[in-house]
Amino acid sequence: MLYAWIKLIHVSTVVFTISFFSLRLFWMITAPGMIKKRWVRKLSAYNDTILLLAGIAMLVILRLNPFQVDWLTTKLVALLVYILLGMHALHFGKTKSSRLTSGVLALFTVGYMVLVALGRSPTPDILMILQRF
Ligand code: HEM
Repeated sequence: MLYAWIKLIHVSTVVFTISFFSLRLFWMITAPGMIKKRWVRKLSAYNDTILLLAGIAMLVILRLNPFQVDWLTTKLVALLVYILLGMHALHFGKTKSSRLTSGVLALFTVGYMVLVALGRSPTPDILMILQRF
């Protein structure tokens, strides 16, 4: 039961992080001042901390070492790529077009992470995943 709640929190914060990242990418183009606002940065940081803590809690409950499970290792490496692309897109990119490119690549990366998690494989079978819904 506890595990189900933690997983729900994990998946909910995943949905929020992807939605809020997309919104910030939109603001980056239309209203750049928004992404620098304190509440925007705080909200994102709090959500991502909860996402990470829920992920770690599930690892502890399942007694999994993420570096011995291929899809979890893949997810962690992809997480690093997502963070770096996201930082370039929202904070460090020099031009709007390079920021937008990084942002779109970040969205592809996080989408891949969702597929990896749902398929429990670094090379997820999308058709099999779709059959589950
Ligand atoms: C943006 C980053 C992340 C995304 C998009 C993501 C996505 C997901 C999704 C969609 C699920 C649900 C899978 C299902 O319903 O079958 C899941 C489960 C899980 N995630 Fe994540 N995750 C992220 C980060 C992390 C991190 C950082 C960790 C570990 C520290 C982690 C560990 C786990 C574990 C252990 C499960 C449970 C799998 C199971 O119940 O068998 N995730 N993740």
